[in-house]
Amino acid sequence: MSRVSRPRRYLVCEPRHFAVHYAINPWMRADVPVDTALAGRQWETLMGTYRAHGHTVETVPPVPGLPDMVFAANSALVVGGRVFGSHFHAPQRRPESTEYETWFKAAGYDVYRPESPCEGEGDLVPAGRFILAGTGFRTTPAAHREVQEFFGMPTIGLQLVDPYFYHLDTALFVLDESPETGEAHIAYYPEAFSSGSREVLRRLFPDAVLATREDAMAFGLNSVSDGRHVFVAPQATGLIAQLSAHGYVPVPVDLSEFHKAGGGIKCCTQEIRS
Ligand code: ARG
Repeated sequence: MSRVSRPRRYLVCEPRHFAVHYAINPWMRADVPVDTALAGRQWETLMGTYRAHGHTVETVPPVPGLPDMVFAANSALVVGGRVFGSHFHAPQRRPESTEYETWFKAAGYDVYRPESPCEGEGDLVPAGRFILAGTGFRTTPAAHREVQEFFGMPTIGLQLVDPYFYHLDTALFVLDESPETGEAHIAYYPEAFSSGSREVLRRLFPDAVLATREDAMAFGLNSVSDGRHVFVAPQATGLIAQLSAHGYVPVPVDLSEFHKAGGGIKCCTQEIRS
């Protein structure tokens, strides 16, 4: 099957102040040394790869003292040009919401600020006619209700149960969506979800690519797809083979320094959907 790419618009934040100073997920060890120069090179490689594949990259200025601001995905969900902002669970990350809001407002968008804890695309994943919404560690079910009310799209709550997969985007990503049918092709790691949520995913996405724990722990599901190219962690070797077998073109990009903070390719990339 031949897969077709669609050009995307991504919002990112340069890792100039990236570090691990606090631990808010099991991947983080407070004050573990981060090679900032290497992180910068890995990040630049990702940006160059996006541009080389025809995508637009826009940047929010990084702010000293906000080491996780590089994880742009967490700051909003944008669908149909409407911006649903963030409300971080961890106090250390709360100031990031205002920084991104400032960027969106300057770019001409209104920003809805959720009342309940909600971490943008970290836990909110548009998939065809649904928004998949993770909960259990960060984003709350109350925020899912705000999301559904704001976008008017059926918002499907999914219970995350493994602290290593604390955000939905560490356990699931969308490979392709059909605008005509509203169907989505996704990949996920079933054991990251409660048994009921696993059953929901099985019913909604019977053709999904199922990943192993090994590939999920390698941040293989924290990937970005343009419908054809899948920007994926090179360490996720099993998943890479599965993607090729499904007709996608894996494009490995190594963000190993960011894994120390519990983040990968998708975490560093927010999609602005017009
Ligand atoms: N250190 C960050 C945190 O724990 C990592 C965020 C990763 N982002 C993501 N979209 N999963 O909040």
